[in-house]
Amino acid sequence: MNKTTQMLFDEHSHIVNAIDSVKQLRTLLSSDADSYRELTTELVNYFRKYADGYHHQKEESILFPLMSKKNELLGNGVIEEMFTQHEDFRGMLDAIEAAVRKGDNDEAQEQLEEYAENMLDHIAVENDELFITAESLLSDDELEKMYFDFQDSDRNLGSSAKTDLENWAGALRSRLMMA
Ligand SMILES: [Fe+2]
Ligand SMILES: [Fe+2]
Repeated sequence: MNKTTQMLFDEHSHIVNAIDSVKQLRTLLSSDADSYRELTTELVNYFRKYADGYHHQKEESILFPLMSKKNELLGNGVIEEMFTQHEDFRGMLDAIEAAVRKGDNDEAQEQLEEYAENMLDHIAVENDELFITAESLLSDDELEKMYFDFQDSDRNLGSSAKTDLENWAGALRSRLMMA
């Protein structure tokens, strides 16, 4: 895989680390409602900052526009679908947060599991189809330039904060797996 698409691919695996924690959270629903609320709030924060911030930002402002410019059919097809799904994900996070706020943990968990499932499908389409299409559609120079644009995007949002978020998701996953 090209290093540019590899960067997005790696970010997907960090998102999947947090998704792995979602099912584990279910056990807290009845045993420790306060911890459940706390961790769910942290997960929403993670998905907003990392998945939507660092990751979707690159796809929406850099990758998708370039691919659409190169191929209109893609722009009106799978890429438009990916944009719509990102928008849906943002709405789902708001719904999870609202459920936690009103103290409805069961509802929050339902929404969180739906988010997790849809995100896994979304990631699969990008990993298995979209990134491969990008590699054949874009020239080496375009991919190289995109790599630097991705790095700029991370620097603008904060590179060390990004690493902190990745470490947080890994640590949460290990912690809940052992619980
Ligand atoms: Fe995406
Ligand atoms: Fe993605």
